[in-house]
Amino acid sequence: MTESRTDNIAEFSPARRELDLAVVLPTFNERENIPEVIGRLFATLSGLEWEAIFVDDDSPDGTAELIDSYAREDRRIRCIRRVGRRGLSSACIEGMLATPASVVAVMDADLQHDESILPKMLAKLRGEALDVVVATRNADGGSMSDFAPARVILSRLGQRVSSVMIRCGLSDPMSGFFLVRRSLFLEVVNELHGGGFKFLLDILATSRQPVRVGEVGYRFRNRVKGTSKLDISVAMEYLFLVLSKLTGGIIPTRFVIFALVGAIGLVVNLGFLSLLLFRFHMGFSAAQAWATLAAMTCNFFLNNQITYRDRRLHGVYLILGLATFCLACSFGAWANVSFSGNLLRSGVPWYLAGLAGTLLSAVWNYSVSNLFTWQMPQRRRVSEATDSVKAIQASYEPPTPPAGGLGA
Ligand code: GDD
Ligand code: MN
Repeated sequence: MTESRTDNIAEFSPARRELDLAVVLPTFNERENIPEVIGRLFATLSGLEWEAIFVDDDSPDGTAELIDSYAREDRRIRCIRRVGRRGLSSACIEGMLATPASVVAVMDADLQHDESILPKMLAKLRGEALDVVVATRNADGGSMSDFAPARVILSRLGQRVSSVMIRCGLSDPMSGFFLVRRSLFLEVVNELHGGGFKFLLDILATSRQPVRVGEVGYRFRNRVKGTSKLDISVAMEYLFLVLSKLTGGIIPTRFVIFALVGAIGLVVNLGFLSLLLFRFHMGFSAAQAWATLAAMTCNFFLNNQITYRDRRLHGVYLILGLATFCLACSFGAWANVSFSGNLLRSGVPWYLAGLAGTLLSAVWNYSVSNLFTWQMPQRRRVSEATDSVKAIQASYEPPTPPAGGLGA
């Protein structure tokens, strides 16, 4: 079956040769860098069979249109355009899925990565039968360029954390510039986290087999045109990736974040309580009620910003969400107190009773708000879509065939 299909293809395109390398370049608002990066790829990859796949998230500056204009001139250039989506790692995944090449490079499109080392990286991968070759800023000949000191510290901290997640020794596991065998990528693709910027780390931490890695040093250039997209939410995504890989997917990452936010709420609760008690001399019950409300409100907004950043509530949903969240958490608090009280009375030590009550309310709060509070706009969208499908179905009248049949 497959053989005859291959034969057919060979008949129609005998000149097609296998690709040596596909370069995947994620882009968001990189219009100004596109001509230069394409020019450099042509120059450096001239001796190879290659293609470049740009994956653009519908950049408002017209990056995709510009890439398309090159793609019309040369088939080695392609642009995948995603609408209503954002994310560097997920863009890379889609780019890698879209090429048949057996070796794929991932490279930024902002000229910070030195494309001239691509042939050297490919030669190393082939020559040493490696699965991954990382272009690293820390190896011999590599450098961090003129990074701000704060970013160097953050970068080093991230590296420490990442070394716990991967088993192979790498001096720059946070690099966004690397070559990977597509077979390894396909082995792990179903289990990739896919969020944030740290795509290489995601691949390495997901692989169950030991990965054969090599490194090539280079100088990370400064950005000349356009701006970096690395912001606080990208840093949060890194935290999500680490948690998801460390918990091995057993505990949902969202629950872990939800619980961490809950712990912050506890601090807020105690802070408010002491303020109202000692500064404003309020009675304990009233002070505790206000402090709980403050903590719940704070948790709601933190969850809306971080835990449910992909389903963030706005407008009227924000108010409805706050109300349902407070209601759910109040019930959770009541369940916590009565459950742990019962355990205590039946002889369970106080700390275990307290822990069990807290766990119960955390799971309750998470489940209810996950299913209800941050689900409201989705439910509405689904019901609207179903309604409009029903309306179309109701108004549908099968066309009457022309008299005398179609051939008349
Ligand atoms: N499609 C898509 N969607 N592309 C994106 C997105 C996105 O949401 N965000 C960023 N990009 C593209 C940029 O257009 C650029 O080509 C590349 O991804 C890197 O983005 P930068 O915003 O320039 O990242 P950086 O320079 O701060 O970070 C780089 O260095 C890090 C190491 O310090 C990246 O290579 C990181 O992956 C790397 O870890
Ligand atoms: Mn950059």
